[in-house]
Amino acid sequence: MNNEQLMSVAKAIVGKQKGILAADESSPTIKKRFDAINVESTEDNRRRYREILFTTEGIERYIGGVILFDETLRQGTKDSTPFADLLSTRGIVPGIKVDKGTKALALHTGEKITEGLDGLYDRLAEYKEMGARFAKWRAVIEINEHDLPSSFGIRANAHLLARYAALCQELDMVPIVEPEVLMDGAHDMERCEVVTSRVLEAVFTELDAHRVLFEGMLLKPNMVIPGMRCARQESAQRIAEATSRCMYRYVPAAVPGIVFLSGGQSAEDATDHLNAINMMGPHPWKVSFSYGRALQAPVLATWKGQEGNVAAAQKMFLNRCRLNSLACEGRYGRAMEEDVA
Ligand code: 13P
Repeated sequence: MNNEQLMSVAKAIVGKQKGILAADESSPTIKKRFDAINVESTEDNRRRYREILFTTEGIERYIGGVILFDETLRQGTKDSTPFADLLSTRGIVPGIKVDKGTKALALHTGEKITEGLDGLYDRLAEYKEMGARFAKWRAVIEINEHDLPSSFGIRANAHLLARYAALCQELDMVPIVEPEVLMDGAHDMERCEVVTSRVLEAVFTELDAHRVLFEGMLLKPNMVIPGMRCARQESAQRIAEATSRCMYRYVPAAVPGIVFLSGGQSAEDATDHLNAINMMGPHPWKVSFSYGRALQAPVLATWKGQEGNVAAAQKMFLNRCRLNSLACEGRYGRAMEEDVA
């Protein structure tokens, strides 16, 4: 394990006001996104869409890393430049989603467990050969107002995240550790804080036991936020206070970056909340974004599968990247949304 290399890649990904584009939708998930804009999910449409994102001029100022899906890492531009090479040449670190999605956790009704550990070492070695420098594994934590998640469900998912992270570091690939407490449901923000706290505590206990180098990883957590169906929604300020409190208590300062997922928040809310958290800084870690939906939803809605809309979609994408980059410094304001042509 090359500590220096791990630390420098982790730092580069969250370099000066930079965040991550999560473009690692699995085939069923990207189909869902394409269905919503009436685009057929063929291999070439998926390739073309990712090409639109990755060739957008100027994103390297705001994006330090891109998470790809297996198929996408094997694809390239129209003139056959592999996407990993294109990104690296632009100073953006290519990464890869390596989990194989979630299944029901046996004997634990309503809970999920992530698959993908079998053969992972060999898969990581192949991905590294293809240019990936970091990886991502997502654990999904179901939450309700009463009995979910169970402490066993939390422990089982934390253990897998740590097994994955250790394998990555053995191959000098930076692990992004993603324990996602879902936003679905009617629970309030206090409940989300309690559950997120228990999850992060378990995750760092397991990472430590597995000898994972905190300085050579990134954490991708949910923000502390009320469930989408909760009657009491909260201000950006309150969300930022609860999220920061939880991170200060449970995330070691040695971790170079916390890159939040958007988890179903609107693009504007995800940016606003990130901004509010950074306005409370400086923090011991870089506090940035690793957004999927919050970066891509406006782009998909503009593109709609039409070549004639590509320039407008790329403009929209660059603008979202820029606004989130400003939010990394606490310099975003809702009024900036109006400036977009
Ligand atoms: P969202 O930002 O859409 O939650 O996606 C991030 C991600 O990578 C989920 O695994």
